[in-house]
Amino acid sequence: MAAFKTLDDLGDVTGMVALVRVDLNLPMNGGSATDVTRVEAVKPTILELSERGAKVLLLAHFGRPGGKRSSMLSTSMVVGDVEEVLGKELMFIPEIAGPVVEQSIGILADGDIGLLDNTRFWPGEDTNDSSLAQAIAAHGDFFVNDAFSAAHRAHASTEGITHFLPSYAGRAMEAELKALDAALGNPEAPVAAVVGGAKVSSKLGVLENLVGRVQHLIIGGGMANTFLAARGVNVGKSLCEHDLTDTASRILDAADHAGCTVHLPYDVVVSKEFTANPPSLRTCNVHEVAEDEMILDIGASAVEALADVLKTCRTLVWNGPLGAFETEPFDAATVALARTAAALTSEGSLISVAGGGDTVAALAQAGVTNDVTYISTAGGAFLEWMEGKELPGVAALVASNV
Ligand code: 3PG
Repeated sequence: MAAFKTLDDLGDVTGMVALVRVDLNLPMNGGSATDVTRVEAVKPTILELSERGAKVLLLAHFGRPGGKRSSMLSTSMVVGDVEEVLGKELMFIPEIAGPVVEQSIGILADGDIGLLDNTRFWPGEDTNDSSLAQAIAAHGDFFVNDAFSAAHRAHASTEGITHFLPSYAGRAMEAELKALDAALGNPEAPVAAVVGGAKVSSKLGVLENLVGRVQHLIIGGGMANTFLAARGVNVGKSLCEHDLTDTASRILDAADHAGCTVHLPYDVVVSKEFTANPPSLRTCNVHEVAEDEMILDIGASAVEALADVLKTCRTLVWNGPLGAFETEPFDAATVALARTAAALTSEGSLISVAGGGDTVAALAQAGVTNDVTYISTAGGAFLEWMEGKELPGVAALVASNV
């Protein structure tokens, strides 16, 4: 893993202004967050800097306002949720640079925490405008990036700012990069990847990258149907991207060539309608799906076979559910395999790293959130990392030599 500086490389920070990029893009219902996992993740960094006597100024985006102010997308919306998790009061500052920020810093005591407004209210954020980055940087003594989930964006507050301030990875970023390195950067082999979700088209880059890196590729969710169709299986009225069967065949050939075994289900759970516990529910061999049936989950025998595969592996990286897991009983395969992965992890035979919104929800549903080695709360950034892409926010930390 390429070297980057961490909070351990900072000396005495008493009275210094720390500009800390966090991800407070929280799911909201009404006026409050429905999930504060992202705040929990950045809490150690914020409290450590505060306890070390820095004035901590949080930089965050919220939604995609596209360079315009919008009251519903002000970071003031999350002040209450952040204060509750941190157990500390925040000063909300309705700007990200300029005299208001300077005056606020004058009011903050050492150890106090301020939250700047949504970085994306300023058009220069998304375009990584260097004069905006410089204007923000002018308020700080150093920059800390603790937002891996925003690191796939080359924005002024993630990338641009590192050109103007000494830059460090926060504790959450540090942990995330170590876990991801252990999962795909320098993993212990054999490595298995579970890739699920609705569409091949959304994870093409992921699949293409993984076939060259893992020994076992387990494909589930709607995208498995496209692969089954590419192998000549009639998938009835299942979700299937028929126009992508050639692409799926190409990925299967590449896997063959690279010595990667692709696991597709051989028994599946089907139904004529997509509702909870439908009367037409049955499990059958993939070659017995009727024209009016759709595949909604992987069958129990296939799950058992996949569990046997995981038992032979040392590392697992997981993105996406195996079936339509939000609707019972089509969560069964995902829950069962997640429990196997968790048990193997607890025994110490498997390093398991999972990421992506649906995956996090599926693991929570299986009750194994605390039993996998690492769960990433990143969505797009986790996928881009699985595609093998360099993330600008991470690359900037490695390159930063201000
Ligand atoms: C996320 O929610 O995945 C991150 O906050 C990034 O948001 P974005 O996709 O709007 O850049």
